[in-house]
Amino acid sequence: MEHRITIEHMNKFYGRKQALFDIDLTIEQGMFGLLGRNGAGKTTLMKTLAAIHKKKNGSITVCGVPIEREREIRAMTGYLPQEFSMYPNMRADEALDYLGALSGIPGAERRKRVDSLLRKVNLDAHRHKKVRQLSGGMMRRLGIAQALLHDPKVLIVDEPTAGLIRRNASGSAICSARSPKAGS
Ligand SMILES: Nc1ncnc2c1ncn2[C@@H]1O[C@H](COP(=O)(O)OP(=O)(O)O)[C@@H](O)[C@H]1O
Ligand SMILES: [Mg+2]
Repeated sequence: MEHRITIEHMNKFYGRKQALFDIDLTIEQGMFGLLGRNGAGKTTLMKTLAAIHKKKNGSITVCGVPIEREREIRAMTGYLPQEFSMYPNMRADEALDYLGALSGIPGAERRKRVDSLLRKVNLDAHRHKKVRQLSGGMMRRLGIAQALLHDPKVLIVDEPTAGLIRRNASGSAICSARSPKAGS
């Protein structure tokens, strides 16, 4: 299996406005950051990689899979949007469990994954709080947990440090996405 993302000749238009200009980029295994001013096109590129935006031209593969194979791409990518919100009236653990059920993870495995992810992102002590009662940083960590729920090969986080006070909470989550079988 190929462990890289390849982007060739990618352009993106919103109507007549061009947001991405002929991107050629290979992202190797490991952590990779996109830096750029507001409006540079970071979110646009990430949404395309997560198969949220449809690619119109150029070619993209994620771990060898062409981006057009959307179901496979979604199964292998976890995505945390810049502005993340979910089920405000559910408890944090219920919300994760519910999302896991929606993506078809069987009950026993789902409970184990939810428990382990809540520990990993340091939300174990807050798991019974309603989602709307979580702080900005807690919400962000819950977002990382939901992005990792289906054990993706690739984790895509838009504005990764936004709202995070304890950087190590996200750091450990990102590392585990790189080596999901290591059990760390
Ligand atoms: N849904 C949209 N409709 C029209 N223009 C958009 C839309 N989303 C983003 N843009 C424009 O595309 C450019 C890139 O935006 P974006 O990818 O959000 O940049 P970044 O994440 O780097 O701040 C900006 O000029 C932005 O105004
Ligand atoms: Mg953005």
